[in-house]
Amino acid sequence: MEEVTQGYAILNDIVEQIRKITNFVPKVGVVLGSGLGKFTEDIRVIGKIPYSKLNGFPVSTVPGHNGQFIFGYVNKIPVVLMDGRVHYYEGYDMFSVVMPERIMALLGAKVVILTNAAGGIKSSYYPGLLMAITDHISSFVPSPLIGQNIEEIGTRFPDMTNIYDEELKNLVIRKAHELQVPIREGVYLQTSGPNYETPTEIKMFKTLGADAVGMSTAVEAIALRHMGVRCCGISLITNMAAGINKAELNHDEVKREADAASSRFRKVLWEVIIGIVEMMKEEEKALKEASQPKKDTKKKNEGYDDLNFDDMEIIKFK
Ligand code: HPA
Repeated sequence: MEEVTQGYAILNDIVEQIRKITNFVPKVGVVLGSGLGKFTEDIRVIGKIPYSKLNGFPVSTVPGHNGQFIFGYVNKIPVVLMDGRVHYYEGYDMFSVVMPERIMALLGAKVVILTNAAGGIKSSYYPGLLMAITDHISSFVPSPLIGQNIEEIGTRFPDMTNIYDEELKNLVIRKAHELQVPIREGVYLQTSGPNYETPTEIKMFKTLGADAVGMSTAVEAIALRHMGVRCCGISLITNMAAGINKAELNHDEVKREADAASSRFRKVLWEVIIGIVEMMKEEEKALKEASQPKKDTKKKNEGYDDLNFDDMEIIKFK
């Protein structure tokens, strides 16, 4: 038998620790950015696991980022929420930074929704606006895939062409429109933080094609893409980026704006989760239909055959 890679052994150990607590299998994972903390009150929670309870798991140090996995249901859809993420600027290596996303995927999440607060670079943006991420620039932070490739979860040189799933992005935009929540689509650029940018850096980012800037999401999307997990990203523009309107930036303002937009952001997120499962059901149906002609050969339906949407019982924590 082939030996497992070191990275996989570490991830597997965390999954096993979680599996000792619960056999809950999420279909959708969500990373809750600033302003979305209260989404945890919207879902029917069945259990929480603080990151600090998991040996070898990074624990966020940012005030206001609690750091726990929350398991529960949006309607009948089993979801796992990351309430608090781990940022590169806290001093963790990239393996630790993206560990929570990888764990959500290994627990069963087929789709992950990444959310964040970001500074608006595009001049028509304004605080309170949502931005569905179409693509990103991650060239200013190290790749989370540097180091020995974890063969068990993905290939050495993964494609990043469609890193943010187009259908998911269209779904996000459609749901926001239905709810009359202002939204645009655009390119997210990740910096390491924790300092905000200089006005000249923002000018450069604009020239490069960035519409918004933040400190978290691109590397998470890379790790998910590496695993073949579909993801979408939604930024909440909490402030205009440095130099755009001469105002100085501070974290309190970012938090204030995030809280002010919380209720509409939560509504969009709720509808997107429901929409994702409907979308996956449709895709599952289409795949089944496509395999119909060959009546006697039961064709495998490419990754979705383990989804059973009628069988979503609450699984009690042990
Ligand atoms: N820059 C970087 N990250 C951010 C910003 C910003 O202006 N606003 C919220 N997160």
